[in-house]
Amino acid sequence: MSTPDTAADQMVPLRDVAGPSGAMQAARKAQAATAKADIVLLGDAAPPHTPSGDTPQPAYCASDPDTRLYLGDCRDILAGLPDKGSVDLVFADPPFNWGVPYEGDWDDGMDRAAYERFTFEWLDGCIDALSPTGSIWVNIPDDTAAEIVVHLKRRGLVMVNWCVWHFRFGQCRNSSFIMSKVHALYFCKDPDNRTWNADAILEPSDRAAIYNDARTMAKDTNKGMRVPMDVWYGKYWGRIQGNNKERRHGHENQIPEVYLERVVNACSNEGDLVLDPFCGSGTTATVARAWNRRSVTMDQSESIAASAWNRITEVGMVRKGASKGQSSAIHAPRSKRPKTLFTGKRTS
Ligand SMILES: C[S@@+](CC[C@H](N)C(=O)[O-])C[C@H]1O[C@@H](n2cnc3c(N)ncnc32)[C@H](O)[C@@H]1O
Repeated sequence: MSTPDTAADQMVPLRDVAGPSGAMQAARKAQAATAKADIVLLGDAAPPHTPSGDTPQPAYCASDPDTRLYLGDCRDILAGLPDKGSVDLVFADPPFNWGVPYEGDWDDGMDRAAYERFTFEWLDGCIDALSPTGSIWVNIPDDTAAEIVVHLKRRGLVMVNWCVWHFRFGQCRNSSFIMSKVHALYFCKDPDNRTWNADAILEPSDRAAIYNDARTMAKDTNKGMRVPMDVWYGKYWGRIQGNNKERRHGHENQIPEVYLERVVNACSNEGDLVLDPFCGSGTTATVARAWNRRSVTMDQSESIAASAWNRITEVGMVRKGASKGQSSAIHAPRSKRPKTLFTGKRTS
């Protein structure tokens, strides 16, 4: 397992900068100190899980690209994974401990300390699996986001973005604001040496989509386009329910394809290895395979794994490409005619 010191040692030296350093530079500075601090969280005192010690064998595998699904507790599988240290991208959408009746033996109602301990253990397994240039994304709601952020920081990882997946139709309630988001936490081992494909995820800027502004169309590259903002919403970004054509029956908390498509395209290249410790309906592996990435995933339930494998290898993505080029503007276009640039010379 990574310790704060070994992970911190992998970090690149801090650059000296003049003037305001910006959020990333500040995060890096704070990270070095945080990794060395003695931060204690509730789950640290809970009894540890003893890994089975078995060498994991995939329950399902396919080639071109290499795709594997393991059956069992992800903490056991991660401990014996042959790909340790070579995973390029982790995406994890864990059980939230909200009492979901998952198929299989999983208890989704642990006491808080045990749940935190479980969380830290699978996070550590993922950190060990990551290559020095790898990135990890975690999909997590409000009640555990803070603990995950602190744990990743004390393990020496650097936060790149704290994104938010915003959706409509959260469960109605009157006692507090209706929940309409989950956090998408993006961390890496080395911020200066990570895969980041901005061009692969561009969307129309508001300047182009709303104002039809000639300035953005006059750019040399990526005219009218920008990297998406860190709050994600829009067409196809809703929760997967009802008659949504992505929906896989018998699965809880399925994530939309567009979400994984954005993460996979931004943070990995063709042929890279993507890992998801909580397969569920197989969204990560389905998207990874469709975009020619190798993938490793795992689930504790035999029936969930069987259904996911069918999706990953037979059904595939049903909205490939839908995350790209879609405007997230919240206002209708205000100008039909392109605004022209003022060149500075008036004749009258
Ligand atoms: C929130 S769901 C993942 C949903 C997935 N992202 C999708 O889009 O379908 C969590 C999954 O983790 C599985 N799971 C829970 N605990 C596990 C463990 N310790 N090891 C492996 N899988 C586990 C559950 O069976 C469930 O399928």
